[in-house]
Amino acid sequence: MQRLKVGVIGAGGIAQIEHIPNLMKLKHQFEILGVCDPSAKARAFVGEEFGLVAFKSIEDVLALPLDAVVIASPDPLHHEQILAALGRGFHVFCEKPLCYAPGDIDDLIAARDRVGKVLQVGYMKRFDPSYEAALGRMPGTAKTLRYVSVEVNDPDAWPFIKHHAWRQGDDVAPDLIASVKAKQQEQVARAVPAALDAMSYRGFTAAYCSSLVHDVNAVHGLLDGLGVPDGEIAGAQIFADGQGGQGAVRLLGGRALWNMVHLKVPALADYSEKITFYFGEGILELEFPSPWLNHQPTRLTVKTSNGYTFAREDVRTGYEEAFIEELKGFWSAIVEGKAVRNTAEQARRDMALLSGLAQFHAGARS
Ligand SMILES: NC(=O)c1ccc[n+]([C@@H]2O[C@H](COP(=O)([O-])OP(=O)(O)OC[C@H]3O[C@@H](n4cnc5c(N)ncnc54)[C@H](O)[C@@H]3O)[C@@H](O)[C@H]2O)c1
Repeated sequence: MQRLKVGVIGAGGIAQIEHIPNLMKLKHQFEILGVCDPSAKARAFVGEEFGLVAFKSIEDVLALPLDAVVIASPDPLHHEQILAALGRGFHVFCEKPLCYAPGDIDDLIAARDRVGKVLQVGYMKRFDPSYEAALGRMPGTAKTLRYVSVEVNDPDAWPFIKHHAWRQGDDVAPDLIASVKAKQQEQVARAVPAALDAMSYRGFTAAYCSSLVHDVNAVHGLLDGLGVPDGEIAGAQIFADGQGGQGAVRLLGGRALWNMVHLKVPALADYSEKITFYFGEGILELEFPSPWLNHQPTRLTVKTSNGYTFAREDVRTGYEEAFIEELKGFWSAIVEGKAVRNTAEQARRDMALLSGLAQFHAGARS
């Protein structure tokens, strides 16, 4: 088995809890040569916990003889770091959101195509065994689709990471934090060319781009499976101080509607993320657990009727962890030339919808 030499860029929560231990579990496929993070606390943790070399700056990691990088840094840094890694000829796995602005993703697509390397986005839900099973078990067709619902309540990670070993890198220099904020402002201005008040800005960057982006991508994949083309935005609201985001999309010329809501419920130690497809003849429901609860299956339920006889089928096809499967997929794309699942083009489509929702919301408020 070919062992890919990787560097990890950003050693915060997701890298410490998921990507680094998962890459190490896949030890026949990956070897981590180095990690970088500006936080001394995060670097110390990575050294003590995993025995890895950790550098302060990205240049030190990119100078290593790597095949690929895994980027798990703050969102506004993805664009420049992907370009730097592709520029060195490395394959790139990058966390979502790939970039805020669809136009910024075009730069990445062009750079990827210039060097002919893999660029995969961290939409792990597409590797969830229940999601894969859902693609083949829709109890209806594009002709009978009536409604798609996304409903998420999420307190953020705190209840679900207490049992993991990790260390917050809260010692990053203030000027570096300020520069990331400034980059975010520039990128958001490119993504949403409309005046966003503070609440709407938070809603776009957090509720939409950090959270709902997963569901938008998952629903896009399910709609593709049905052959339902992209629809038109019919409504959008950012609420709950920017911790709530809603969007509505008219599908199939108005024959069907897709409504999505993400709400942070900060003090509730519970998580629910439901995607439901309603057809004339049946319903399919996916209920995801908090992503931090590894190997906990996503509930897939298919409801159908045969005349008066109603049937509810609970489908479980395995206990594979999506965060691990996406890394295996990254390896297969690089080593075996398999098609990339979760491309920059898909991310572009997701971000075009989310920036459109923010624009719709801003227009409705002005
Ligand atoms: N797929 C998922 O479900 C999921 C879950 C959580 C986070 N994420 C994504 O992963 C990324 C990281 O999120 P997180 O929760 O780990 O955040 P975090 O704040 O815990 O970690 C980010 C780390 O990046 C470091 N950093 C800052 N500037 C850097 C630079 N110039 N170079 C390298 N590292 C730098 C920070 O010091 C910090 O340690 C984000 O893009 C986020 O959206 C994805």
